[in-house]
Amino acid sequence: MHSNYLLIDFFNDQLMDLKKKKIEEYRQKSEMIIDAMLGISKAELYIRNHFIPNNQLKSLEQAFSMLLEDMPVQHIIGKTHFYEDSFFTPPGIFIPRPETELIIDCIQNDFKSLSEKTVLDIGCGSGCIGITLASLYKNFDVTGIDISNKAINIATKNAKQLKVTNIDIIKQNIFDMKPKKFDIIVSNPPYLGINEIPHLDNAVKNYDPLQALSDKEDGLKFYKHFIDNISELLKIDGSMYFEIPKSTITNQIIDMIHNNSNIESIFFKDLEGNYRVIKVFFKK
Ligand SMILES: C[S@@+](CC[C@H](N)C(=O)[O-])C[C@H]1O[C@@H](n2cnc3c(N)ncnc32)[C@H](O)[C@@H]1O
Repeated sequence: MHSNYLLIDFFNDQLMDLKKKKIEEYRQKSEMIIDAMLGISKAELYIRNHFIPNNQLKSLEQAFSMLLEDMPVQHIIGKTHFYEDSFFTPPGIFIPRPETELIIDCIQNDFKSLSEKTVLDIGCGSGCIGITLASLYKNFDVTGIDISNKAINIATKNAKQLKVTNIDIIKQNIFDMKPKKFDIIVSNPPYLGINEIPHLDNAVKNYDPLQALSDKEDGLKFYKHFIDNISELLKIDGSMYFEIPKSTITNQIIDMIHNNSNIESIFFKDLEGNYRVIKVFFKK
């Protein structure tokens, strides 16, 4: 049964409220909600007269009230596109960012599709990096670790949903992991200093989990651990790839690498020309 509420009227009412509340990119986010919840694309929304199905009105209203509270649209619709797939990202899960796809590009540049490697994804969150690698490389044996129960549950659900079986998702704090060496280590660690948190946009500060954003120190804790423990984590011919922030701590990461005479590094830029990934490996 359809209500006699025209979707475009409902949509325009919501846009007015969202604009008043200064929600960023409110039109695009609203279109994403309509597409995800009703299967009505942006083009169709504006050219056809749809009535809202009776049984959908309440849930649509709920979704838009969450958007009014500046909840990220990826939490409202519960999914985020990353690389070639869609990942469940309910509230409480760090939303995969497009810039993190650069790690996948770097690996694709370095490894052939039939390579057999062991891979560790540190702080796997939704599982987006590890699951994408396991899906692209059927002979990779991937382990994804995270400290958060919620991340472990969702990453496991994502792997299952995408029918990826060459990944183990394990609850593990990287700072007390038993020594084990991998061929490839990837990570997008919590890299914000605790002092940066108050300055973040509300949508990030209020909804991305704090332990995914910050090391609760100066932002360097994870990088220091990776570099100080490289001999315990990485096989002699292996490589680590980690995302770095667009901030001054990058210079301190470079210093840490220079201070270790056994290792060297290569930096990779994103499409905007910022260094966002470092590859670290043992000098030959
Ligand atoms: C920035 S998020 C990255 C999530 C995902 N890899 C991505 O790129 O979207 C960092 C992740 O590290 C996890 N984490 C924080 N502290 C950790 C620790 N000590 N050991 C393992 N994982 C940790 C968080 O729970 C969070 O899921």
